[in-house]
Formats: sequence, structure tokens, C-alpha cells
Amino acid sequence: MSEERLAAFEAKIARGELIEAGDWMPDEYRRQCLRLIVTHANSELMGALPEREWIPRAPGLQRKLSVLSKVQDEIGHAQMIYRVAEDLGRPLGITREHMLEDLIAGKAKFHNVFTYPAPTWADVGVIAWLVDGAALETQGALLRTSYAPYARILRRVCAEEAIHLKHGEDIVLTLAAGTRVQRAMLQDALTRWWQPLLHFFGPPDEQSPNTELTFRWRIRLMTNEQLRQSFLRKYVPKVQALGLAIPDAELRQDPATGDWLYGDPDWNEFWRVVKGGGARTEDRLRLRRMTREQQLWVRDAMATPTSAA
Ligand SMILES: [Fe+2]
Ligand SMILES: [Fe+2]
Repeated sequence: MSEERLAAFEAKIARGELIEAGDWMPDEYRRQCLRLIVTHANSELMGALPEREWIPRAPGLQRKLSVLSKVQDEIGHAQMIYRVAEDLGRPLGITREHMLEDLIAGKAKFHNVFTYPAPTWADVGVIAWLVDGAALETQGALLRTSYAPYARILRRVCAEEAIHLKHGEDIVLTLAAGTRVQRAMLQDALTRWWQPLLHFFGPPDEQSPNTELTFRWRIRLMTNEQLRQSFLRKYVPKVQALGLAIPDAELRQDPATGDWLYGDPDWNEFWRVVKGGGARTEDRLRLRRMTREQQLWVRDAMATPTSAA
């Protein structure tokens, strides 16, 4: 019986149909989707922190308002994506509380780029332009994922990410057209972020049964390297057009394929950061823990039924 169900499920996927939360799905499909979606939700929640530090310091009211809205959007993305994860996790006994507890205990993954410091205003521009640009590559490819509730929520998320990217591009263009000091600050920020940006998409996919399953079930549709190349094709020319130097002496485009060949991005550093060794991992998790404790009374108040007068 379960083999018949699995065959029917796989036939459905092969026909390009989508899977809804209430449909039958193999436990492994549920687990793979959950792993991807929880990591995404955690990354939205933690991703708001580097820019949050800049809300009071952004130059001028308009910039403060745009950073504030972006931070608010990212937290909103986290809430919507945790909601999708909650439905997937329920049959496995995994609640939103578990997901958040695992995150603040340092047991769950979130994206490597959100463990780095953002020491200057130019970092805020580079994050919003290029990190959100990289996120849009990954999330744009997932719009066609087979898990329908995730695909639906990503339509809204991607629309907002596209606005974040414009906000970042505007900061970068202003600095690029600014004084010598502003251009130098921009160049330093780009130099700091280039390696984390190459790491953003993860190492080239190894041939593992996990990878094979996620592609066969159309949970993911593009490999890490395909996503990285799509990002490089769009952004390398834009960065170079601004007269900025990309800190990679080996970077060149293969004339036959159009692919960008890049120097060794130090995958050991990537693994060190992913395993919790990022420069700001610990204090950003500490901040998240503190906020969660301080907001406990609100959650308790919401959960307590009001007595009838
Ligand atoms: Fe986001
Ligand atoms: Fe964003």
C-alpha cells in the first residue's frame, strides 16, 4: 500500500503537480522540505540583525525609514515562513517553539552571511544590494518548488526582496558617485563581502542520496553552482561598471560557456562559519535569546483566555 502511495506521489510530481499541506507525502519529503524551510525562516529572522544595528545610525530620515521597513519586512518573512514550517512539522511533533528554541540554543542552521559584522554604512548598501540579490536568486528558483504553500509564500517574499535590492542599489550608487572617502568605504565593504557572497550559495552540490531526492521531488530546482553562476552573470558586470575592484585575481569569464571562473573561496572558512564559528554568531544569538525572554510575558498574555466579565 505504501509503495502504491509513493508511486502515486512520484507520478504526481513528475506531472508537475504541486503538493499541498494536507496531501499525503512521504516522511522523507516532509523532512527535506522542513529542513530547507526552517533554515530559510531562521535566516530571515537572524538576517534582520546586521541591518537593525544601523536603524539609529542611517544617514537622514529617508534612509532610516527605508532600513526600518526592510528590517520589518525580514521579520515578517520569518513569521510567514515559520507558519509554513509549522504545518509541515505538526505530524512530526515539531512546533514553532521547537524551531525557535533550537535556533537560540545554537542547534539550528541559519545563513552564513548573517554572522558577519556590518561596520560601515557601505556594508548596509552592499548587504541590501548583493546579499538580497543573492537571496532573490535562491528564492526566485524556489518559486517553482513542488511544495505549494512554500511557493505561494515565496511570491510575496520575492516581491519584497526586489524592493530591498533597489534600496541597496540606491545606497551603493550614491556612495559610488560620492567623495573619495565614500568610494573607499564602498570598496572596503565589497572586499569584505565578496567571499561570503560566493559562500552564500553553498559548496558545489555533492552527489548524495539527499541531493538526488530533493531534485527528483522538485523540492529544489537549481544546483548551488547554477545559482552562483546566475548571480555572478548578473552582478559581476554591474559591480565592475561602478569601477569597483572584485577581490579575486583569478576571476574571469569562460568565453565558451559564459560561466565565471573564480579562485578558491576557502570552503574551510564556510564550514567554520556554518558550524557556529562566525565572528558575530554568538552575540547575535544572545540578542535573539534576550528578546525571546523579554517578550515571554506578551506570549503568555496572548495565550491566557480572558475571563468573562
Ligand atoms: Fe527576506
Ligand atoms: Fe530582504
